[in-house]
Amino acid sequence: MSNQLILALSKGRILDETLPLLADAGIVPAEDLGKSRKLLFDTNLDAVKLVVIRATDVPTYVQLGAADLGVAGKDVLLEHGAEGLYEPLDLEIAKCRLMTAGIDGAVAARARRRVATKFVNVARRHYAEQGIQAEVIKLYGAMELAPLMNLADEIVDIVDTGNTLRANGMSPRELIATISTRLVVNKAAMTMKHAQLKPLIARLAQAVEKRRTGEACPDR
Ligand code: ATP
Ligand code: PRP
Repeated sequence: MSNQLILALSKGRILDETLPLLADAGIVPAEDLGKSRKLLFDTNLDAVKLVVIRATDVPTYVQLGAADLGVAGKDVLLEHGAEGLYEPLDLEIAKCRLMTAGIDGAVAARARRRVATKFVNVARRHYAEQGIQAEVIKLYGAMELAPLMNLADEIVDIVDTGNTLRANGMSPRELIATISTRLVVNKAAMTMKHAQLKPLIARLAQAVEKRRTGEACPDR
């Protein structure tokens, strides 16, 4: 097995917060990721390469060993499932909540509920745990539109400031999970490449810790 480590990064909003953490851990892309159409990048370390892919594809790459480790939101990991993955580190970035939400003042029917979401597995599990029969409708974006257009009674989506819900006359209902970005590692790689992975994970953990103490004492 090669000594090379492939790290899969989620493009989109997580990427901007991931790069400073990587830099603190001593990993710097060899070129500006935002200015390139490339998907596979060298770094300052010969042994570490980066791939920048859709957030929802990161667990698949890592689970199947195409990447040794990856950076993904807990929401994406809950939806994908944890098979073949270790989750050794909370990177404490892109914090938000996974919630149910509905139109202000509307009372969700107790019986059969229509739910629009891109997190269909999470939604099915959540409503089953509540003993609520749910017809889950898969959407790929703009979930907040679904209740307004009478496509669904409720949505399951990410909530941060709540501005998107408010702007659409909706409010959060139940918390499903608190979300942050996690480091995931392929289970086989964790054994086979332990010598390379261990120091890298330790440096990332230090970078997270440094950021946390920096936030707690902004003057220092
Ligand atoms: P894709 O383009 O693959 O469908 P996406 O549009 O969900 O992915 P982003 O919007 O870039 O991707 O979000 C990536 C991750 O950032 C999410 O998986 C979640 O963990 C986190 N996230 C999403 N929305 C917010 C938000 N409003 N505030 C904070 N974190 C968020
Ligand atoms: C995410 C999420 C919500 C919004 C919540 O969407 O899907 O719509 O953020 O954040 P808020 O509570 O601060 O308003 P995003 O902006 O990533 O757009 P997307 O629908 O393209 O994923």
